[in-house]
Amino acid sequence: MGVLRNISFLLYGSKNFSKNGFARASMTWDKSVMERRLEGRVVMVTGANQGLGFETSQELARRGATLYMVCRNPIRGEEAVQKVRQVTGNQDVHLQVCDVSSLASIESLVREWEAANRPLHVLINNAGILVHEFIPSADGYESCFATSTLGAFALTWALGPVLRRSAPSRVVFVSSGGMYTAPLEVRNVSNDDLKIGKYDGMLAYSRDKRRQVALAEKFAELWGPEGVGVYSMHPGWATTEGVKKSIPGFYSFYRDSFREVGQGADTIVWLALQDASALQPGAFYLDRAAQPKHLRFAGTQYSKQQVDELWSALERICVDKVKPAGEGAS
Ligand SMILES: NC(=O)c1ccc[n+]([C@@H]2O[C@H](COP(=O)([O-])OP(=O)(O)OC[C@H]3O[C@@H](n4cnc5c(N)ncnc54)[C@H](OP(=O)(O)O)[C@@H]3O)[C@@H](O)[C@H]2O)c1
Repeated sequence: MGVLRNISFLLYGSKNFSKNGFARASMTWDKSVMERRLEGRVVMVTGANQGLGFETSQELARRGATLYMVCRNPIRGEEAVQKVRQVTGNQDVHLQVCDVSSLASIESLVREWEAANRPLHVLINNAGILVHEFIPSADGYESCFATSTLGAFALTWALGPVLRRSAPSRVVFVSSGGMYTAPLEVRNVSNDDLKIGKYDGMLAYSRDKRRQVALAEKFAELWGPEGVGVYSMHPGWATTEGVKKSIPGFYSFYRDSFREVGQGADTIVWLALQDASALQPGAFYLDRAAQPKHLRFAGTQYSKQQVDELWSALERICVDKVKPAGEGAS
């Protein structure tokens, strides 16, 4: 099954995730959505100091958003903020230092946000890593899981009351086409299977990206009625430092097919701008269109019950360590 899935992914990806896929899709786009403005909207982008997060930040700042760039390294973060201010002329751009793989760091961010009594209209969970060794996070979890699954869940979950209060609001999970190669893994949100044998970073990444798609469905179901739109998306294969470093072989083989970083960020920006009524809650987007969540013959279908189990497992991990906004003050 694994081999079939991977072949299916490469065939589908070469056609759709490439720069040619972007060019084909973009022929039919209504360009006016991208002309919308974001003055008065408070936006948070995680993993904002380089790659897709930086590009997205720049595009949202250009449109007048009040922007919080979440970066784990204060020096790289400050440089990125200054660059965005300088390039866009928008001075309402701020650094929010947070390591999203650490629940204590998320807890600090949420307490700070709460104390400032700031709204939040758009949350973009973009921070992500792909590593090839088992590196434990501050809380002892495998680092890819800690960043993309647990971190993205904890941040969204804890900012939920702010997002609901700020509605209409929305959340975007920057997932990946890699999720097509993984079924939803609900067990082992602990580290056990990742520690046994050789650590497979690609498998861990694909599982976390699949989990993000499932979490977007659950958040959409829970919060949609309160005016919070939640979506997941794939940027396509976009040239970034992260890609060059984490999958150098894949990048050099498919290099000519890779998109520019702005083409990868396009759908993230579009999801921040498009009317909620024109979007499908919980859907997985690529190139401004909802996509299937499973490839043919891949055997990756999952049930609603599995999504609920994942949700509960993550909530159990978070509940003692991160308090949702509004519940933190003692
Ligand atoms: N590029 C692609 O082709 C592609 C395809 C599919 C999906 N994606 C997804 O798109 C997202 C961005 O990827 P990218 O290609 O732009 O990668 P990138 O160039 O490596 O950028 C990732 C950003 O995330 C930050 N980050 C990582 N861990 C963090 C943490 N624990 N806390 C806060 N920030 C953290 C990094 O900060 P540091 O500088 O401190 O490391 C960096 O700013 C990821 O979720 C990735 O999985 C990318």
